[in-house]
Amino acid sequence: MDQVKQITVIGQGYVGLPLSLSFAMNGVSVIGVDSNEKIVDELRRGITYQTEKVGELTIREILKAQTELGTYQVTTDGAAAIRASNVIILTVGLPIDENGNPIYTAFENACTAIGENLQPGSLVLVRSTVVPGMTETYCRPILERLSGLRAGDGFFLAYVPERIAEGKAFDEFVTMPTLIGANDEKAARFAEAVIRINSTAEIVHSNSIIAVETAKVLENLQRDANIAIVQEFARFAEAAGIDTFEVIRLANTHRRVQLLSPGPGVGGYCIPNAFHYLNAKAREVRVPLPLLSLAREQNASIPVFLVEKTAAYLSAGGKNLNGSRIAVIGLGMKDHSPDDRLSPAVEICREAIRRGALVKAFDPNVSANYPYQVKTLEDACRNADALLILNTIAPGFDPLAEADVLSDSAVIIDTRGIVDPVRLPKSAIYWKI
Ligand SMILES: NC(=O)c1ccc[n+]([C@@H]2O[C@H](COP(=O)([O-])OP(=O)(O)OC[C@H]3O[C@@H](n4cnc5c(N)ncnc54)[C@H](O)[C@@H]3O)[C@@H](O)[C@H]2O)c1
Repeated sequence: MDQVKQITVIGQGYVGLPLSLSFAMNGVSVIGVDSNEKIVDELRRGITYQTEKVGELTIREILKAQTELGTYQVTTDGAAAIRASNVIILTVGLPIDENGNPIYTAFENACTAIGENLQPGSLVLVRSTVVPGMTETYCRPILERLSGLRAGDGFFLAYVPERIAEGKAFDEFVTMPTLIGANDEKAARFAEAVIRINSTAEIVHSNSIIAVETAKVLENLQRDANIAIVQEFARFAEAAGIDTFEVIRLANTHRRVQLLSPGPGVGGYCIPNAFHYLNAKAREVRVPLPLLSLAREQNASIPVFLVEKTAAYLSAGGKNLNGSRIAVIGLGMKDHSPDDRLSPAVEICREAIRRGALVKAFDPNVSANYPYQVKTLEDACRNADALLILNTIAPGFDPLAEADVLSDSAVIIDTRGIVDPVRLPKSAIYWKI
């Protein structure tokens, strides 16, 4: 029963692609399925914009090698892949609309395809982050109705949250402890056999699927609230003339304290959405979440706050944001990241442009080709009235490498606390978050 024969991974995004390749590298035959034809076409041609690595080996090289070996195939034909596999892993996303409500379309389509093609004895592993309760109250009924099979008997169902951080995927599949939520023994053992293909870390079981789903959401919420704390603290520290980063460095020497750093805001798919996943369930059970809601609002307000800060500093130097040239370093949702989903940096650019600024942003990791994206740091910085340092592009990246082409009295907004003030151009006006 728990012999893994062939794995289908539904969704070939930031999680699904490296997960598929990680299994393939361990000798298991994997079919990656994605409904986006462009992604499938590019993957077939060996193209991905992800920057994951195993040692010095890039994900592109791994993709090429596993495709040539035949251990990895990719297709838009989910039906055939699911019929040919006895393990189906779901990694599609659950986006949030502008009113904070989950959009279930991708999930519904994926569950429908699985349900219609599921073979008896197969395992369905949900790895996406979900509204607590979704595996059993949303996925399971679709799978059972369309397959005519029952979970725990005709097929097996488990929830295994993905906990990797982008950029560390291949390493963290192996080393990050994994949670398995399953409410029957056979599903739990089958899921463990799948996880053991590429993991040497601790595996923690729970027979409460909803507890595992909620734990995943809470892990992300903890980071959102932690960042909100340091962002609020940073406003206080600035007014009191205390260095925020120095305080955090000192406080973190306490073994039970782990403060994160303030920055340009919180982006990416996982952390900003976590509140909305929990809130969808909280609304159902009629419980308000005032603290978590405030933390989310606090983090969501940072991009506008930073544009206002830039405007105020420009104005102190006799310039208007409207018409000023703004150089932006970093468009990804975090350092070194090609992922621009819900990126605060993109929001900062949008807001500055809305207020009449002439933005040029440099980030070679991001492949989106925004109209204001430029290819060199020098192009972004030339004659700029303000330089916004939002992330660090690559290890060892020097945000001041082209500072000598900035305009006189340029405003330098350092959201990462990484500039050495000794290296600032003489006329620069410097602000650190
Ligand atoms: N990105 C991360 O680092 C990370 C970490 C932990 C957990 N997660 C969670 O994992 C899930 C996936 O995240 P991601 O970052 O890989 O998202 P993603 O958007 O990069 O990938 C999802 C992919 O699924 C495809 N898709 C959508 N509907 C489909 C369907 N019906 N059939 C086949 N393919 C379909 C999309 O085209 C997309 O390529 C999310 O729930 C996310 O919250 C992500």
